Amino acid sequence: MGHVLAIDQGTTSSRAILFDADMHVAAVAQEEFAQHFPNSGWVEHDPEDLWSTTLATCRAAMAQVPEAGIAAIGITNQRETTVVWDKVTGKAVYNAIVWQDRRTAELCRSLREAGHEARVSEITGLLLDPYFSGTKLAWILDNVEGARARAEAGELLFGTVDSFLIWRLTGGKVHATDATNASRTILYDIRKGGWSEEMCALLRVPMTMLPEVRDCAAEYGHSEVDLLGTSLPILGVAGDQQAATVGQACFAPGMMKSTYGTGCFALLNTGPDPVASQNRLLTTIAYQLDGQPTYALEGSIFVAGAVVQWLRDGVKVITRAEDTHALADAADPGQDVIIVPAFTGLGAPYWNAECRGAVYGLTRNTGAAELARAALQSVGFQTRDLLEAMHADWQGQGGQSVLRVDGGMSASDWTMQFIADIIGAPVDRPVVLETTALGAAWLAGMRAGVYPDMDAFGREWHRDRRFEPRMDADPREALYARWKKAVAATLSV
Ligand code: G3P
Repeated sequence: MGHVLAIDQGTTSSRAILFDADMHVAAVAQEEFAQHFPNSGWVEHDPEDLWSTTLATCRAAMAQVPEAGIAAIGITNQRETTVVWDKVTGKAVYNAIVWQDRRTAELCRSLREAGHEARVSEITGLLLDPYFSGTKLAWILDNVEGARARAEAGELLFGTVDSFLIWRLTGGKVHATDATNASRTILYDIRKGGWSEEMCALLRVPMTMLPEVRDCAAEYGHSEVDLLGTSLPILGVAGDQQAATVGQACFAPGMMKSTYGTGCFALLNTGPDPVASQNRLLTTIAYQLDGQPTYALEGSIFVAGAVVQWLRDGVKVITRAEDTHALADAADPGQDVIIVPAFTGLGAPYWNAECRGAVYGLTRNTGAAELARAALQSVGFQTRDLLEAMHADWQGQGGQSVLRVDGGMSASDWTMQFIADIIGAPVDRPVVLETTALGAAWLAGMRAGVYPDMDAFGREWHRDRRFEPRMDADPREALYARWKKAVAATLSV
């Protein structure tokens, strides 16, 4: 009975990872699903795709180790993505509106102009940006025929993807979410630990639609027998970036991790008290155990690995992502090409939804190599932007300056070395790169009593490699200053 099944429902694929009693990966299954872009800046998923790929991958992973006794399910998920479904049929009334979707930019701007942002930040720790769930939910209520009336009549439920999956897995018995996912909705009071009447009133969201908020390691009901062939308890839930924070064992104040996927999300554990950012970072819940929230400062950037996809699929200067490093090594050291990858605006700490990307420093000699180097360097520059903001907010609190990294792009030695160089601090890459799934599995396995407690789990974290900074301070600061100028120019166009 020592295995744990982790569901990682992400932005481009659903994955199921079976961990054995020693928390080693025993089986993995993954399925991609369609992305829908019905309008400029809109991004949607079909909730049935999220569900069917989740179920299929769970079954596939379980079939790889049929003898495994599974003690619990842990769920982690793309955050902020918003689903509204019928309480009776379980059918969604509209596609899931994905975290990347910008359709509520205008609503956010008008709320900002009406002076609501300070109060939003005070209560929720977030900013008025289309990124978060609340304005997406408001959009569904205002634009899907009959949705508002049905929601007010108590017929519709809201949830982030974790909630929707829990509802489906338990056959509609449990409508719940965890504190980390709740903390991304802009409807949750992160200090008081409950849904905020004031925020719900501001966005005209009926509170009866909202799920019950529980700890990250808690009872979330059992899966229906016919779904997975056996009834399994769901005992762990956390948003994917928070699950990665847990999987990286960033349990002490001052510890931080950065996950490099399509985008990049850095979280700094700030302990039992929320820290209000003066530098446009988000204050969020890192995890909540035994009713006690641990807070984090978060910096979210929307384009990290996606810049390499752009090199490959957009401008087509590479054919394979893995060629980027060799090209970057061959770049002319005399050229200073800078790419600001603001394809969908800029996230933290700039939060500008309108600006678009730019390339600076082109010469007649600029080619694929210089673009490749600039693309990889943009990931490092943006990481430094986040860390500068974190250090400013966290001043004098001590803490470590080591950055723990994970996510697909952390496999790139070139990029990790550049990050260490440009932040001027060590970058640690763990042995287990499945940190998001591991975090969800540990929460569930610890609750089930089959995995170690927090201290012992923290001691299990092992480094694969440390990247020490190799760049001298003068060239480092000159390079970073050039990036800052490029961002300022991009924001001013
Ligand atoms: O906030 C968005 C984040 O949770 C998405 O993560 O890994 O699905 O791209 P991912």
